[in-house]
Amino acid sequence: MVDTVTLRVTRYDPDVDDEPRQQDFDVPLREDWVVLDGLNYVKDRLDGSLSYRWSCRMGICGSCGMMVDGEPELTCGTFLVDHAPGPVRVEPLANFPVVRDLVVDIDDFLTKLPTVSPWLVRDVDAPVDGGEYLQTPAELDEYKQYSMCINCMLCYSACPVYGVDPDFVGPAAIALAQRYNLDSRDAGADARLDVLNQPEGLWSCTFVGECTTACPKGVDPAGAIQRYKLTAATATLKSYLLPGGRR
Ligand code: SF4
Ligand code: FES
Repeated sequence: MVDTVTLRVTRYDPDVDDEPRQQDFDVPLREDWVVLDGLNYVKDRLDGSLSYRWSCRMGICGSCGMMVDGEPELTCGTFLVDHAPGPVRVEPLANFPVVRDLVVDIDDFLTKLPTVSPWLVRDVDAPVDGGEYLQTPAELDEYKQYSMCINCMLCYSACPVYGVDPDFVGPAAIALAQRYNLDSRDAGADARLDVLNQPEGLWSCTFVGECTTACPKGVDPAGAIQRYKLTAATATLKSYLLPGGRR
């Protein structure tokens, strides 16, 4: 087995470069090294100016997403040996503006996310001395899958709809709306539905399913969106059929 592998890294300095370019770096090919280890080797030993994000190195913080050989991946969970003999292409996440090198601007997601109220909405807050809002294990299971999202943006990078329609609220925001809709302590589902039962909400999704394939946490945003569409269609139908129905 060769003992080095080439990382073909996208570089972009907006103060100097007209457009992104590639730069090759040879890094050790160790069995236990992930792509992030290779980038850290470059940063520590070869070129300290390389810019990229990471924090936890254990698939929790969601900050290390990049394109690896054309696929959106968490670089802390993507082993170099699986991409040998290389060169291994490391690029910024697709569908986002590039700030510098491998760092992308996710302000669009951060602007859209609060529009779906991704927190517990209560009609009336119980007094603190009343204790916790209790939940059964079955009630927890209803939404637990959607609560695993780490906001890594791999699903947005994989989504062909978001790639052509930046108004689409996107897979993770919708999955997070479902996370709270399905929580027995929440009363915000109607307000979220008003936001998402729109062309740029649920109905932009054409169920390509790439978001679910890309998700490293098993959230299944595509499934969440289809389930939500059923809820939205039922609510719309009721609003026309029932007297005083919700519109
Ligand atoms: S749904 Fe999955 S891929 Fe999308 S941001 Fe959340 S964890 Fe990442
Ligand atoms: S460094 Fe935190 S998810 Fe990869």
